[in-house]
Amino acid sequence: MSEFKLAKRLETLPPYLFSAIDKAKEEVRARGVDIISLGIGDPDLPTPNFIVKAMSEAIKRPANHQYPSYIGMLSYRKAVSDWYKRRFGADLDPNTEVLGLIGSKEGIAHFPLAFVNPGDVALIATPNYPVYGVSTEFVGGIPKYLPLTDENDFLPDLDAIDNDTWKSARLIYVNYPNNPTAATAPRWFYEKLIEKAKEFDVIIVHDAAYTEIYYDEANKPLSIMEIPGGKDVAIEFHSLSKTFNMTGWRIGMAVGNASLVKGLAKVKEQMDSGIFQAVQEASAVALNDGDLFCKGLRAIYKERRDVVIDALHKAGISCRVPDASFYIWSKVPQGFTSQEFVTRLLKQTGVVTTPGNGFGTPGEGYFRISLTVDTDRLKEAVLRISQL
Ligand code: MLT
Repeated sequence: MSEFKLAKRLETLPPYLFSAIDKAKEEVRARGVDIISLGIGDPDLPTPNFIVKAMSEAIKRPANHQYPSYIGMLSYRKAVSDWYKRRFGADLDPNTEVLGLIGSKEGIAHFPLAFVNPGDVALIATPNYPVYGVSTEFVGGIPKYLPLTDENDFLPDLDAIDNDTWKSARLIYVNYPNNPTAATAPRWFYEKLIEKAKEFDVIIVHDAAYTEIYYDEANKPLSIMEIPGGKDVAIEFHSLSKTFNMTGWRIGMAVGNASLVKGLAKVKEQMDSGIFQAVQEASAVALNDGDLFCKGLRAIYKERRDVVIDALHKAGISCRVPDASFYIWSKVPQGFTSQEFVTRLLKQTGVVTTPGNGFGTPGEGYFRISLTVDTDRLKEAVLRISQL
């Protein structure tokens, strides 16, 4: 059998962070170790019944068995725009400013094909979701990383970026609530970002997948679409994955500036054939009727967050209390690198976490915990962490 050489763009590319972790996890599981999975941000709880029921009806409709619309059904796009209005007070035209995605990862990965030429610079706040950098490199773009640190509240210092860098940039990626640091961004940050983007003609790509997992009703995460001027310069990616425990369903949305949405749609119609319509119908029900469910989900994550934070602090492990997302971004104990700590933790205790450096250099010295098991298992996990 011939062994074919990979294309150059893949030759030096490491495996996707979470697929590498899966491999290590399976090796440990094979030794009979009890695994507690706090790695990938994949909710353990099921999709709620009202959505599953809507799906089971939608799947029976023959019209849904044919090719879906490339841009998403109008009923789904309308549900997205109504939800944005209700949740964020943002006005989005479902015809021109909303696009259905096969999960936000798909849209994020395809976006540079529409707007980045070889040699164009993409500014990426880091540590970051790895897809921003890889998809930029796939089209010959040049990622320039903006460090997020504890000292700057995990917000990129926009004033520290010199004018030449701003001028060379085609787009800037930001992500709040942030994965992996769990930081949120205040209104002034978005206002300043929009001002800079307008001044230097830079596209803002905002990944907002975690806005619905928050812990303080008085301080809800923002959408850039609710900030004046946001829609002029930004595209925002969102998803039903984390909001409604629907990671396996693969559905999300891109919203914002009509020309950005149109450009992405132009790429997608060449690459895929849309989202299974039954999934879109059920997702419209989720967005229209899911507010109460989300409230309950937040209460569950809050209990989990508090259990872990309390136990970590008691064990002398340093971390901030997150205002949003279901991640905890924690310092590794002294004397370890991120990779050493996470590997030892997995091999000796069966607890899977994500090494901070897997999200970029400023993540070194941290590890990420996902709150994706129940409180008893979380208590057990933190006990094992503290005893390492
Ligand atoms: C994460 O755990 O960072 C994400 O859920 C991974 C992903 O979306 O691929």
